Amino acid sequence: MNWNFFLLLVSFLVVTPLSGASAHLCNGYSKKAGQVQVPPRPKIVILSGTDRAGSNTLKVAKIAQNELEALGGDVTVIDLSQLPKNTFTGGYGNPPPGFSRFQAPISAAQALVVLTPEYNGSLPGALKYFIDLLNPKSFSEKPVTVIGLADGWQGATRATDELRLVLQHLHANVYGYTTNLPQIGKMLESGNGFGRMFSQLAGFKTGVDQSFTTSLQPTVLSTQKALEVAKRSQKLYTIEYNSGLHVSGLLTTFTANDSKSSVDYLRFTGPTQLAVNGVELSGQGVAQHSQGFGAPVGELQSIGNQTPSKSLDDFSDEELGRFGIRINEAVPIQFKSGVKVSGKVISVTRSAQNKVVLVSFADCTVTNGSGTVLFDPNWGTYDMAVGTTIINVQPGAAHAKLYLGL
Ligand SMILES: Cc1cc2nc3c(=O)[nH]c(=O)nc-3n(C[C@H](O)[C@H](O)[C@H](O)COP(=O)(O)O)c2cc1C
Repeated sequence: MNWNFFLLLVSFLVVTPLSGASAHLCNGYSKKAGQVQVPPRPKIVILSGTDRAGSNTLKVAKIAQNELEALGGDVTVIDLSQLPKNTFTGGYGNPPPGFSRFQAPISAAQALVVLTPEYNGSLPGALKYFIDLLNPKSFSEKPVTVIGLADGWQGATRATDELRLVLQHLHANVYGYTTNLPQIGKMLESGNGFGRMFSQLAGFKTGVDQSFTTSLQPTVLSTQKALEVAKRSQKLYTIEYNSGLHVSGLLTTFTANDSKSSVDYLRFTGPTQLAVNGVELSGQGVAQHSQGFGAPVGELQSIGNQTPSKSLDDFSDEELGRFGIRINEAVPIQFKSGVKVSGKVISVTRSAQNKVVLVSFADCTVTNGSGTVLFDPNWGTYDMAVGTTIINVQPGAAHAKLYLGL
């Protein structure tokens, strides 16, 4: 093995400062070793402002929902076409039975996004009527943002102007920026042109988080309990290793060594993203990990036949080579948990902080302490996450835009 060749192949990553959802990973609340902070997921309601069957507004509402969930929101879409049939009977102050299914999430929401189409130069009567039926305190002091859409060239500027006035009358904190989406039919067909709306939603979510964290502190939990919260939610979470590696996806299982209360293997199902400092690692997005991702956590027992005295993420290039982690060479790595990774090294990825965050293998088999196969060589490249502990469990994706393919 040519040593210079090895050094050349080690990939060094240039990463930018914390952005998006990751900016809240370090927020100054105290925690002890073995604990992580789990920031709350703000409850956000998206009100889709028409009851028209086949509504484009509802389609845009679902796009916005994906975006806000990737940013860490707990998002509910309200579809006015689902209102009880007897809603429009003039029952102001005395809404019909079944209306509470709509009122309750709005009352519980910490923030709202209201989407309106333009109907005859204004907002739809159904949306105004719905707002008039709600408890008048529904929007009071809450952050609210407005998005408009229409087939015309101007988007729904008149509808959004009027809607903002109505919401301000109800004492909502109406967010300054409003996107109006023109030619909505064509936009939805092409899937392009939503950039301004995504910027608006990202800015809004950041504002919501800031106002929100003053009232609700993150919960400090043991790592296992935090992972349990992520797993039970069945929602997108980002798990951060002490090496700085962020893994974003749906955490479906994790195994833990109860005697040491340490976690030793994480399994994500479906699209998974690997990132450092909020920036997706090259070649480590949801396209590469579309089916899921399995990742060990913990201290190493041995690399080849040597016992390391420090964490792999802290290894220098010289130490990697000395321990046999060399490009195109096979090396078995044994974790103290019993997890064993054995394959041919194809690359080593470092963060800008020079930490080893990934070692990628070809022809790789991963087994746990009882010999169960966790990764089979036929499944392709095994990108081994590097890190001994989990230091954060955070709602949303580390690099939300790329996670959503925007
Ligand atoms: C009753 C009605 C009135 C409309 N008025 C306007 C209008 O004033 N300006 C405009 O650009 N589009 C207008 N449109 C077209 C809508 O902008 C377009 O159908 C859009 O998809 C409406 O949202 P929806 O699909 O959620 O109903 C109107 C559509 C309907 C059904």
